[in-house]
Amino acid sequence: MSAASIAEVQPVPSQVDQVQEVLMPGEHTLPASWWTSEKIFELEKRAIFHKTWLYTAHASRFKKAGDYFSYNVTGINFFLIKTKSNEIKAFHNVCRHRAYPVVRKEKGSSVILGCKYHGWSYNADGNLTKAPHFDDVQGFKKEENGLFGIRTHVTDQGLIFVNFDATEEGPIPFDDWYKGLQDEMHEYDFSDYEYHMSYELDGQFNWKTLMDGYQECYHCPTAHPGLNAAFKMSTYKVVPKNNYCRHYAEIVKEEVEIPEDNDDEDENNSSWFGFGKKKNEAKPAKKEGKKENPGGEFNGLWVYLYPSNGVNCYSPAWYSIRVLPITATHTILQYDIFTKKGLADDKKKEFVDFLQLVELEDFNLCELTQKNLNEGVYSTGYLHPKKENGVLFYQKIVKEMVKEHWAKEKEAGKPINPAYVGGKKQSDEAAELEDFCKEVECQGSNPETEFMQW
Ligand code: FES
Ligand SMILES: [Fe+2]
Repeated sequence: MSAASIAEVQPVPSQVDQVQEVLMPGEHTLPASWWTSEKIFELEKRAIFHKTWLYTAHASRFKKAGDYFSYNVTGINFFLIKTKSNEIKAFHNVCRHRAYPVVRKEKGSSVILGCKYHGWSYNADGNLTKAPHFDDVQGFKKEENGLFGIRTHVTDQGLIFVNFDATEEGPIPFDDWYKGLQDEMHEYDFSDYEYHMSYELDGQFNWKTLMDGYQECYHCPTAHPGLNAAFKMSTYKVVPKNNYCRHYAEIVKEEVEIPEDNDDEDENNSSWFGFGKKKNEAKPAKKEGKKENPGGEFNGLWVYLYPSNGVNCYSPAWYSIRVLPITATHTILQYDIFTKKGLADDKKKEFVDFLQLVELEDFNLCELTQKNLNEGVYSTGYLHPKKENGVLFYQKIVKEMVKEHWAKEKEAGKPINPAYVGGKKQSDEAAELEDFCKEVECQGSNPETEFMQW
């Protein structure tokens, strides 16, 4: 080929841009069996949920020492509590004596936590302070029988994460795992918001069924008419980052509707999508020297946090979603809503109503989708390389983490649960009996053995 002909076929810069715009062939979803198999689900718990940082709460909910909130993630009961030195700590909600739950309410406040089975007591730092009649028991040490702690990380904006990984090497440090997240969250002032309410949805679907919908807005024009009217869907994009994704979309500003009797600029601009309100014809004049109100210019700070949480910030409010897997086909969704300090009640209601409408629309999509996944006739589907890139992104991490952990388990010849805390300082006999049980269980799950039993 001559130099001239090479020059002829080399694309000019504008052509290069065009080439980049051409969509590459997409990939497929993971197979449906990953949405229905209990064995895969149990493996996901060990490989993903017991290793990664999980968003749990906002620090503003803990007002004084002893304030606590309890949670259940993948069957693990734990609670967060504020200590006398104003730290937020997390503990397994398991008494070190005979495993009764130490905290039995969703929330409360006490600097001494008494177990209602045999009366052991712990302080907010998890130390055992009282164990009736154990003073005379030889070899028993209170300091060795405190509550099992769970690693936590609180960002400078008060977002609290936990990590169940109790192995000696521990998890990847928070700032490496979610590299860049904390800086990104500085675009929003969480201190200007206060707790408003929480609610929960109980879904008969796999946790990934919800995440699939959460990670794309390809479905929005069809499934969310309200959202579709409020945002320019052509601008919606999901940008994968380090184990999190940022979602972007421009607000349809000309559609922001303002109540007739309200001429306060801040209030006007911070209107949620203005549902059921009069359409705003003229843009309110900007006050000299006043900071641009985020409601007018702020398109939202929406973040998906792998594996199963999200924090979504708007002007009038922000909310978090915790997607809590219970079984392969049962998932609980928990929402906490925080509204701007001083926000009028009708504005709060407007936000909550709209959020609940959208969440319910998603919930219904998930329930019917899961029913079909359970049928066993569908396996995989094509994902759009751009419109569903967020789905591809998170499913890829799921696949990699699960396969990597499975390889380790195969090598070890037994399940490895990084959240397991009972193995430390147990007697030789207990360790031996623990291994005995694992061996029996592994045999029990061998299809050949099961067949013989049948
Ligand atoms: S189980 Fe808690 S005191 Fe016995
Ligand atoms: Fe949705």
